[in-house]
Amino acid sequence: MKYLSLAKGLKTGIKVIDDQHGMFFRQINSFSRHSANEGVSRERAVRLFTFLQQYSVEHFGLEQALMEEYRYPGLAEHQAEHRKLRAYVDQTLAKLPTRDLTADFNLQVNYFLVDWFTVHIRQVDRKMTDFLREIAAKQPDHRLLNLIKGLLPNAK
Ligand SMILES: [Fe+2]
Repeated sequence: MKYLSLAKGLKTGIKVIDDQHGMFFRQINSFSRHSANEGVSRERAVRLFTFLQQYSVEHFGLEQALMEEYRYPGLAEHQAEHRKLRAYVDQTLAKLPTRDLTADFNLQVNYFLVDWFTVHIRQVDRKMTDFLREIAAKQPDHRLLNLIKGLLPNAK
């Protein structure tokens, strides 16, 4: 079983994005911990995947709006990665009522989600957040600075 933590090199430096990632991490870790200790509960699994479905709309929507607003050149590539998570979440949720919730299922879910977030944040989100921070450094933009808050000198 693997666990997600912002402290494991997963901060992007844009506070609103890090806060939302933290929210994903808490839900995923809590599911993993319960499932490892007590076995997978169908109800908990449905709750986790429903959360992932709903919260990803909000979170990916925020990232997409920022990429569009600041004309990020990697938008299409980034969205394709978001769609992979959505497809996995949608498919898993659809099968939850009938599939066997074995320890193996638990491990598969844990590995998929932990790996997706780890790789996505380190490789895909970070390219976007570096780009946004560069823009903010060149031409101070209050909205962007507020989102980043706490990272750029004098941005607090
Ligand atoms: Fe992303």
